[in-house]
Amino acid sequence: MSAPNSKYDPVEVASLHPTQIAQMVEDALLSFSASTNLEELKTARLAHAGDRAPLSLANREIGALPPAAKAEAGKRVGQARARINAALEEATIRLEEARDAHVLIEERVDVTLPSARRAPGARHPLTTIREKVAELFIGMGYEVAEGPELEAEWFNFDALNIAADHPARTMADTFFVDPPENGLVLRTHTSPVQARTMLSQKPPIYVICPGRTYRTDELDATHTPVFSQVEGLVIDRNISMAHLKGTLDHFATSMFGEGIITRLRPSFFPFTEPSAEVDLRCFACRGENLECRACGGEGWIEWGGCGMVNPKVLIACGIDPSEFSGFAFGMGLERTLMFRHGVKDMRDLVEGDIRFTTAFGVEI
Ligand code: DAH
Repeated sequence: MSAPNSKYDPVEVASLHPTQIAQMVEDALLSFSASTNLEELKTARLAHAGDRAPLSLANREIGALPPAAKAEAGKRVGQARARINAALEEATIRLEEARDAHVLIEERVDVTLPSARRAPGARHPLTTIREKVAELFIGMGYEVAEGPELEAEWFNFDALNIAADHPARTMADTFFVDPPENGLVLRTHTSPVQARTMLSQKPPIYVICPGRTYRTDELDATHTPVFSQVEGLVIDRNISMAHLKGTLDHFATSMFGEGIITRLRPSFFPFTEPSAEVDLRCFACRGENLECRACGGEGWIEWGGCGMVNPKVLIACGIDPSEFSGFAFGMGLERTLMFRHGVKDMRDLVEGDIRFTTAFGVEI
């Protein structure tokens, strides 16, 4: 290692010359005060106070000076650095204040302006009515049962005593799924869940089954090929039609209000005996207006079907009809919703226009 050169004169090192240093300080100060924002100041800082700034490079020369000269040069560079740093700090404060003032103006928010918030969306009214029905029956001790929408023909028809030559079993009503030898259909009603439940649970059985169903109907104001039903099934000892009527009345009143009860009209379904159509007290006129447009002056509106479970169905599902009896009912959920909310056209329920859905509010 070579020894320091004792004869070396600091003024000979050009970059350490007082005028040079003074110039560096002046350049730095000018550059800082000329900066109009923090970005520019950053560039100026790197140029005049960074590792490769003239003053930093000059500082490196000090090490090579003879000891006597080091102190003086060091002091000069140190003072210059202090001035530059002070100026830098001052400029930083000035520009930060300017930026903050600018942000306050630029980003000012007028809280009185109408907001452009996105609507959170609403659940489909069919979903909410399905849940309301389920909750009502759960409150009475029922369980919710489910079955597949792609159903075995046997469950959809045979188990329910619907004969092989029954008109409902034609292609005109039912979606058969290829290949035909697999015996699969899109279920035409929720009644197959009755058979599934009876085969998988022992009585007493109290179940409700809301679900999607399919028929080959054209979409119009009163039909849709995909619709929903809710099925009820009770199997227990000593179940009579009085239990059925009481349950349906409670269901109707809960859905449509006090005084809206049901009327049973004799009818036929292969899976119930006796069977009845369920009519609803007209919710518009309550039977008091012979010109009522909702019921045509009848005072009653058809709601669904019901009956006492046919012993043949009980036997097909492994339940002894001498020990147990039961009732069943089924109605359309779209119809229920239309009655309840005065929806005139079924297409509104399926077309997915949120202007329709939103009118029902956001029910979570
Ligand atoms: N499954 C029938 C239909 O879709 C409705 C029905 C009638 C269901 C009588 C029942 C019942 O449970 O007992 O038209």
